[in-house]
Amino acid sequence: MTTLLTNISQLLQVREIHVDKVSGADMATLPMLENAWVLIEGAYIADFGTMDCVPDLKNIRKIDCSGRVVLPAWCDSHTHLVYAGNRIGEFVDRINGLSYVEIANRGGGILNSAKKLNEADEDTVYHESKIRLEQIMRLGTGAVEIKSGYGLTVAGELKMLRVIKRLKENYPVAIKATFLGAHAFPSDFKENHSAYLDLIVNEMLPEIAKEGLADYIDAFLETGYFSVAETEQVMAAGKKYNLLSKIHVNQFTAIGGIEACVKHGALSVDHLEVLTDNDIEALSGSGTMPVALPSCSYFLSIPYTPARKMIAAGLPLALATDYNPGTTPSGNMNFVVATACIKMKMTPEEAVNAATINGAYAMGISQTHGSITKGKHANLIITKPVTSFYQLPYEFGNNNIEDVIINGEIIS
Ligand code: NIG
Ligand code: FE
Repeated sequence: MTTLLTNISQLLQVREIHVDKVSGADMATLPMLENAWVLIEGAYIADFGTMDCVPDLKNIRKIDCSGRVVLPAWCDSHTHLVYAGNRIGEFVDRINGLSYVEIANRGGGILNSAKKLNEADEDTVYHESKIRLEQIMRLGTGAVEIKSGYGLTVAGELKMLRVIKRLKENYPVAIKATFLGAHAFPSDFKENHSAYLDLIVNEMLPEIAKEGLADYIDAFLETGYFSVAETEQVMAAGKKYNLLSKIHVNQFTAIGGIEACVKHGALSVDHLEVLTDNDIEALSGSGTMPVALPSCSYFLSIPYTPARKMIAAGLPLALATDYNPGTTPSGNMNFVVATACIKMKMTPEEAVNAATINGAYAMGISQTHGSITKGKHANLIITKPVTSFYQLPYEFGNNNIEDVIINGEIIS
């Protein structure tokens, strides 16, 4: 099918020449065309331009986008949207004064979700998860990374990754799967970390690789979870199966993890609510994308990733949701973008760059997603009538999306 979008008031993130990511001061520039058109052929962007040179094509689908903004669909590079049940009880416990760490120390947190996941069968997990995937597609997400990490057993981790595989097969969104066996130490291994690391390295990873279930590997590098040395073991083991790492790090404490991640060539380091000057220095000039998760900061009332400091230091920055039952039960990238503007003082231009092309980079797909570039996937958001794209973060919490196109098709 051929589709022509016409009369677009602002067509955002137009990149004639491919870029992998944008960094530092360049993030302030969001290239755009006004009064524009986009031609979609099949699943791909065939061409685009301004209305003074709109192609005259017959017998094709035309969508009049007068007064509307069109932009690349969001690229959400960090989620845990495959899970069983919820953690609403813990949410209320936190309102009543307990902290995330206190709840985790009582056997709640990740271990609570692991219990639920291991009790549920694969079909149940699939059906609960696909509802969340469909919901984020309607909210404009066209590419998403999904982690395992609530199994923490061989069977549980495989169950999660098989669910992700089924989602990949059944939905048009681009999905990347990340193996997060190193999310927390199960109670049986609390005093025997090396035995759990053995399980990850010698039992989980070979089986996952054999079935081709993962694209990336992750670990929760944090005080009380995986140490720098333990995470390095996980990253090195992943590399043997060509799995680059994307690591949870610096959420609550800075313990030198970022330097280790950069040394191991991590594709991304995510969270970074607590960041030292040394961490910034380690990231400078590296290929590792820092990823901020402002909805997590919002939900847990913890600090926001210091975007201004990072951008001033010349770093790139990506934005993602962290959609998960414990720290961010929301997969809404529109809220992420708004919160980055409001709480992290990112400009709307920087936030859109961070949530599109830089998010694509953090999933290893910026060659095919994340900008309006000929030959890339036609994954697009068409807004409702708005005065400019600034209205999207300004009206935080409102849904200003009219249509979402994924691989050239409008999703309902
Ligand atoms: O990214 N911080 C580690 N992992 C998740 C939370 C997991 C959970 O609490 O279930 C996160 O916030
Ligand atoms: Fe996470």
